[in-house]
Amino acid sequence: MADGNTPNPLVVFTPSGKRGRFPLGTPVLQAARDLGVDLDSVCGGRGICSRCQITPSYGDFPKHGVTARENALSEWNKVEERYKEKRGLKKGRRLGCQAKVEGDIVIDVPPESQVHKQVVRKDADDRVIELDPSTKLFYVEVREPDMHDPSSDMERLKEAMAEQWELPDLLGDLRIMQRLQSALREGKWCVTVAIHFGRIRARGRIVNVWPGLYEGTIYGAAFDIGSTTVACHLSDLRTGATVASSGLMNPQIRFGEDLMSRVSYSMMNPDGAAQMTDAVREAINALLGQVAAQAMISTEDIFECTFVGNPIMHHLLLGIDPVELGGAPFALAAGEGMVFWASEIGVTTTHPDARVYTLPCIAGHVGADAAAVILSEEPYKADEITLIVDVGTNAEIVLGNKDNLLACSSPTGPAFEGAQISCGQRAAPGAIERIRIDPDTKEPRFRVIGCELWSDDPGFAKATAETGVTGIAGSGIIEAIAEMRLADIIDIDGVVRGSLIGATDRIFSEGRTFSYLIHDGAQKIVVTQNDVRAIQLAKAALYAGCQLLMDEMGIEQVDRITLAGAFGAHISPMHAMVLGMIPDCDVENVRSAGNAAGTGARIALLNAGKRTEIERVVRDVEKIETALAPKFQDHFIGAMAIPHKTAPYPRLSKIARLPDTPPSPPPGGGDGGRRRRRSRS
Ligand code: FES
Repeated sequence: MADGNTPNPLVVFTPSGKRGRFPLGTPVLQAARDLGVDLDSVCGGRGICSRCQITPSYGDFPKHGVTARENALSEWNKVEERYKEKRGLKKGRRLGCQAKVEGDIVIDVPPESQVHKQVVRKDADDRVIELDPSTKLFYVEVREPDMHDPSSDMERLKEAMAEQWELPDLLGDLRIMQRLQSALREGKWCVTVAIHFGRIRARGRIVNVWPGLYEGTIYGAAFDIGSTTVACHLSDLRTGATVASSGLMNPQIRFGEDLMSRVSYSMMNPDGAAQMTDAVREAINALLGQVAAQAMISTEDIFECTFVGNPIMHHLLLGIDPVELGGAPFALAAGEGMVFWASEIGVTTTHPDARVYTLPCIAGHVGADAAAVILSEEPYKADEITLIVDVGTNAEIVLGNKDNLLACSSPTGPAFEGAQISCGQRAAPGAIERIRIDPDTKEPRFRVIGCELWSDDPGFAKATAETGVTGIAGSGIIEAIAEMRLADIIDIDGVVRGSLIGATDRIFSEGRTFSYLIHDGAQKIVVTQNDVRAIQLAKAALYAGCQLLMDEMGIEQVDRITLAGAFGAHISPMHAMVLGMIPDCDVENVRSAGNAAGTGARIALLNAGKRTEIERVVRDVEKIETALAPKFQDHFIGAMAIPHKTAPYPRLSKIARLPDTPPSPPPGGGDGGRRRRRSRS
């Protein structure tokens, strides 16, 4: 019992630190609700769901100003005993709906009892996603029918939800009505309902009903639809955990490798768009089947999906002809964040009443994938100015901070992905991904995907006997050309120096141009003059887009650069800068965000509030049209040089010296900078 002068005991909840005084006998769950403490409950305090578990602490807590006696909570009761016997309860745990406050007490809410659990992102960094999905479960007791007070089962369910969960205005569809009758009777007038909340919480829609207490969980799938691949992550909507992931090649590739060829296919074939829509929906349904099988769940337990993709992928998914996105003024048919029935867009390998959410597109050429990258990286919350580059066939570029965000896309073409490169290939075992060239001997050494050894390490040939050395991946070609520049094999204009013939066997002529031999094996791996040109064109387009945004913002340098996209994750920041893909920046402030678009889709799946947040942010993003900007061409021409014709790279020069860059005078005089040398990251 509380002592005489503190009739209302003090209750302190950890980890939130929320505290308040409550009358004797107040259930802990009630105290938590009154204080806004995040303590879960599906059964509404009936002692059957066990979501409300808490851990009371007894003893002296000077930090909280509390001395908690052993009898500060009511005694262990029959409901808890029954629960413990049937399902087990960890030592020291109580049910928050059963334990009542009898004295000053400190109560810990363990992570699994928090509704808004913090889900740690495993990919890019350790930031957390607060769990607050759009679809949630509620257990409810419904009044039995009464001849003297006639009402339908549905009416009584809604009445019970209003009374027990303060959800007065729910909607229910025919499928729910068809199931409700039997569920109520089988559950002895108790059911669990899944409710999907749209923008207005009170207007939730009942999407499923189970008899009694549903002890399972519900799932959601986050999709990133790229022009090359479609990726899917399946998450448990009650814990936020990613339980399965899978990916497929985008089957639309058979209609065209890049975006513009798919738009052309749609223009030239009356049912071209419909064929591509069918193809991507088929892939989505197949992926849903795969992730459900991986997680060993029924696809009927998938209640939500989120989608991100570039505008053309977005339109094709929704069954909208992307033809208008193929040319100015690049008008989107619809670009805001939207909610549909999954079945409306042909996504059927889910629960029949599953809902989908598509993140908003920014403009006709900057898609929901860029919005997802923004949501994942949150430049809109930072003071520093961040440049985010999602490197793909069409690079999407975002620049800004909490005051202002700008976005554009730049037509880099597929060179960075290894297409148009003589020995280019997609990232796969055997593809060169890292390369270093000795500036004196011009001899290369390299690493291939699937092997940790460098090519000059003993055992390399054996270790790669199975995969072979088959080509150069995108990250490899960037390093190769940057290294060729550092080793003075190519000049500032990207010309392979024929004058090196004789000095090294690695240079040889091919007609009127010269090539560099990286590997002479079953397959000869070379970098040709045309390869260098293709990369110059791609990187110049990327740089010009970045510079255009910097001009618009009136800045000459950025504080941070984030490389996003599956390919961006593998780019070496120093080499990207040597090549001049990105503007000058302190190399330690250049980082990879991995698949940030996929992470953004997952955030929108797990936290409904983030959907509203990104929709608001996207509305304020200033869209810059590269095709219409006269300065784009000027920037493009200057950026054809490696790293750039005129732009200085002072911060790059601290870590790498380009052969014909004049050395900076050393701080204390001497000849420290005169020799051609460089340090490596
Ligand atoms: Fe369900 Fe306590 S709230 S067991």
